Amino acid sequence: MVEEKMKIALRLLSSSVTILLITGLICSCKQQSSERKKLEDPMKKIDKRIQGEVFGRMPDGRDVELYTLVNADGLRARIITYGAIVVSLEVPDRYGKLADITLGYDRLEEYVMNPSYLGAIVGRYANRIGKGRFILNGVEYQLATNNGENHLHGGIKGFNKVIWDAEPFEQDQAAGLKLSYLSKDGEEGYPGNLSCMVTYTLFDNNEFEINYSAKSDKPTPINMTHHSYFNLAGQGNGDILGHELTLHADKYTPVDEGLIPTGEIRNLRNSPMDFMSPKTIGADIDQVKGGYDHNYVLASGGGTLALAARVYEPSTGRVMEVHTSEPGIQFYTGNFLDGSITGKSGKVYHKHTGFCLETQHFPDSPNKPQFPSVILNPGETYSHKTVHKFYTR
Ligand code: GLA
Repeated sequence: MVEEKMKIALRLLSSSVTILLITGLICSCKQQSSERKKLEDPMKKIDKRIQGEVFGRMPDGRDVELYTLVNADGLRARIITYGAIVVSLEVPDRYGKLADITLGYDRLEEYVMNPSYLGAIVGRYANRIGKGRFILNGVEYQLATNNGENHLHGGIKGFNKVIWDAEPFEQDQAAGLKLSYLSKDGEEGYPGNLSCMVTYTLFDNNEFEINYSAKSDKPTPINMTHHSYFNLAGQGNGDILGHELTLHADKYTPVDEGLIPTGEIRNLRNSPMDFMSPKTIGADIDQVKGGYDHNYVLASGGGTLALAARVYEPSTGRVMEVHTSEPGIQFYTGNFLDGSITGKSGKVYHKHTGFCLETQHFPDSPNKPQFPSVILNPGETYSHKTVHKFYTR
């Protein structure tokens, strides 16, 4: 525990030292008194922008770290090294009052269970792969199956259940956390050593950015995403059916009973699936069996950062925009939340009390040659950027 605290302090210190060195160089040209003042200021800023502490201890004795990022507007993101999980995101309403808008838990022991993937980074392959099986370059691979006969969100021990290495950093008008993890060849059945990185950056302009990158030494499917459940009225504060959603997608990938895409890409205009114009999430939800849990095919086609979704919560005025470089987004309305989870501050999470917008490639792509490719080859770099932009109306 003591050793771990020292480690966190050292990491925070090393990012501070770089700034101090630069500041020192600038100041060396000036008088001694002004040098002293300049050395103090960046330290204060860092103390405020990034804080590290121990969140809890794993059953095997390893410590899990918690980092808090704060921006100039008071937004606050708290991230733990277990599962690279965002444990809270505090955002102001139209009167400047902060509320935590993501579902989660108070304690590490609960995140170790976390059957609904609250706040987690999901991989190596987010969403489902039919029967957990695919053929790549003539070889058949069998992945772990953990959702009936299918593979879901990386398998039994996906990226949401491993401890990531963390490195906090500060840049102009932003603070961030770089998390890295080496997924070994054969992990959950996947081929290749995959070295992956997820970087969370909180900017002063109220953008919360997630950057993903990865390299592999063998061809492998990859599809990483972030699985926060949002409730813009504040976590535990009722359902999300009154939130108004716009989704820039006029097609989606219909699924079978096991939620595996049939392979069809279907037009959704003027159907209950249609969110091309702002509509409350609850308006047509009764006409969608089980609620929304579908991959929307984004009009942007992916490749470059584009606006995918906008959500507005009328009672607080909070707006969240999601911009992404991915071609798809899973819109999920917390259909499997059933009141069995007691989350942060004792709030009980009932059906539809949070929604997810998981930016991604399409589910089961390794078995659907007509979908955009998800294969990462040696020598290539996987990259995915998603930005959550907050403001009020
Ligand atoms: C995703 C899936 C859902 C469900 C949740 C986790 O969003 O699309 O079907 O599995 O994750 O509960």
